[in-house]
Amino acid sequence: MCGIVGYVGNNDAAPVLLHGLAKLEYRGYDSAGICVRQNNLEPVIVKAEGKLKNLIDKTDSGKSLVGTSGIGHTRWATHGNPTVENAHPHHSDDYNVIGVHNGIIENYQELKDKLLRNGYTFYSETDTEVIIKLIDYYCKKYKKGPIDAINKAMVRARGSYALAIMCKNYPDQIWFAKKGSPLIVAKGNDGCYLASDVPAILKYTKNVYYPEDYECGVITKDSIKFYDLNGDELKNKKSVLIELDADSADKGNYPHFMIKEIEEQPEVIQKTLNYYLKNDVIDLSSTGLTDDFLANIRNIYIYACGSAYHTGVVAQYIMEEISGVNVRVELASEYKYREYSQRPQSLVIAISQSGETKDTHESVLKAKERNIPTLSICNVQKSTISRSSDYNMYTYAGLEIAVATTKAYSCQLINLYLLAIKLGRLNGTINDDLYNELISDLKRIPSLVKEIIEEKDQIQRIAQNLVPMKDVFFIGRGLDYTICLEGALKLKEITYINANAYAAGELKHGTISLIDEHVGVIALDTQSKLYEKTKSNMVEVKARNGKVLAVTNYGNYDVDSASNDQIYVPKINEYLTPSLAIISLQMLAYYASIAKGINPDKPRNLAKSVTVE
Ligand code: G6P
Repeated sequence: MCGIVGYVGNNDAAPVLLHGLAKLEYRGYDSAGICVRQNNLEPVIVKAEGKLKNLIDKTDSGKSLVGTSGIGHTRWATHGNPTVENAHPHHSDDYNVIGVHNGIIENYQELKDKLLRNGYTFYSETDTEVIIKLIDYYCKKYKKGPIDAINKAMVRARGSYALAIMCKNYPDQIWFAKKGSPLIVAKGNDGCYLASDVPAILKYTKNVYYPEDYECGVITKDSIKFYDLNGDELKNKKSVLIELDADSADKGNYPHFMIKEIEEQPEVIQKTLNYYLKNDVIDLSSTGLTDDFLANIRNIYIYACGSAYHTGVVAQYIMEEISGVNVRVELASEYKYREYSQRPQSLVIAISQSGETKDTHESVLKAKERNIPTLSICNVQKSTISRSSDYNMYTYAGLEIAVATTKAYSCQLINLYLLAIKLGRLNGTINDDLYNELISDLKRIPSLVKEIIEEKDQIQRIAQNLVPMKDVFFIGRGLDYTICLEGALKLKEITYINANAYAAGELKHGTISLIDEHVGVIALDTQSKLYEKTKSNMVEVKARNGKVLAVTNYGNYDVDSASNDQIYVPKINEYLTPSLAIISLQMLAYYASIAKGINPDKPRNLAKSVTVE
């Protein structure tokens, strides 16, 4: 969602801010703005609706703005439309306080009323204008400087925020505060930076600090200071070295991040396996999970959103079959507001690529309140969810930029397979033969994924057939159904085709009434014990003139008679087939999106990291 950048240094700020905002574009936004200031001179604010390019054009790539300190923001509209008035930065009438904000101030109306009673006027519909003016109010009322005013505002504001603030009497300083929304601060050779995410500053430095909730601070061109809520300086903050390359935030020779990330899958799956599989033994020591702890777990509750939820559904099917534990998977946004008794000997698993998804984070907090141990499976290290969890089993997909996840999803599956096998081994539900087969086939996944990616020309051809369709149904049984969920989400996210997943056995209970010559059906049929049943469903669809694309294993060539087109994936232990079948569906969605002239990296209305409810 929104992106924040701040800079104080030796160079002109505007190009640094625009570069940072460009690197945060993937998070999703619909307007942008910057404020730049040269020493004691008046600050200049420029904002533009729509794409960042509009702001870049308006400022002649930043060259029209002179000044070595500034803040920038890309806004994903929550309170009010994506207009210039609502775009950040916002400021007090006398420009005493200027600021940008990520997150939501939940009690903004109550605070606004208080400020209205104190003579403030509001020009936007945003909660941000309220928090900026609240800081201004405390600055003027107590006259104790920005840290005091920011802390007083933090005590009053409910909700989540990452703030970057410029104050009139403090040129060449940018103040920051954080609660619940991501924020990093860093020192480079040419100045200090702050941002809502690492890609914004990777070009300049890889050493970053992570402010904790309710911490604030200030950057100058050569220093960073942190303070707690009492205003006491925190002198022992340690920086962390980021492992990502600046190149990972670039497309290289690829037309889109999405295809780059699809093609990176063999490598990142291998990397993730290498972290946890040592000499064919699953080693989770780096996660903090011990064998004794895991052997005691009888119930697993998985909470996640979007694609991460779909990996949870795969895990549920597999864990319940092979590991002897009860598994319940639930959308984090639902769990948050539901009450049910969670059994003893439980573990909550939160899955999230970004580690910032608000609903998933709140599920972790709720589990902690209930004293249930929490394990996070996140791709972003030190993210909010991973820091709130008791145990972390990171995925090693590297920076994922395309809004529609591909490589992080695949790595999440690997972690969940490893956990399922580990639990099965500890519980004695997996014998030596099955263990050896699963481990040896897990190790084959990277090369088999590569083989599937090499078939991209054929998938690109088949994807053309989806272009005229308004509705596509994904059907499958068992594990195939779990893959349908993700295949349908991928397709709808980046092609805007109405795509839905149905358990194939449910087809006759309603959905079949929608089948005619205009409807496409993608049938997943990779599980041998269910093969004939799903094939019968394909025949039923074909008999009603629906167009069937079958996705099945090599060797199942009699599926030809039940379908119009076929995609074959290599054979592997069938529990692991989701890791292969999904690659074909990712590519299918990607090429259909391209054929429709859509930019798959930035689908409309979607954000990569959803930090609001
Ligand atoms: C957004 C993205 C989805 C993603 C979901 C969960 O909706 O568009 O692709 O699956 O958030 O994100 P997370 O970072 O928690 O995995």
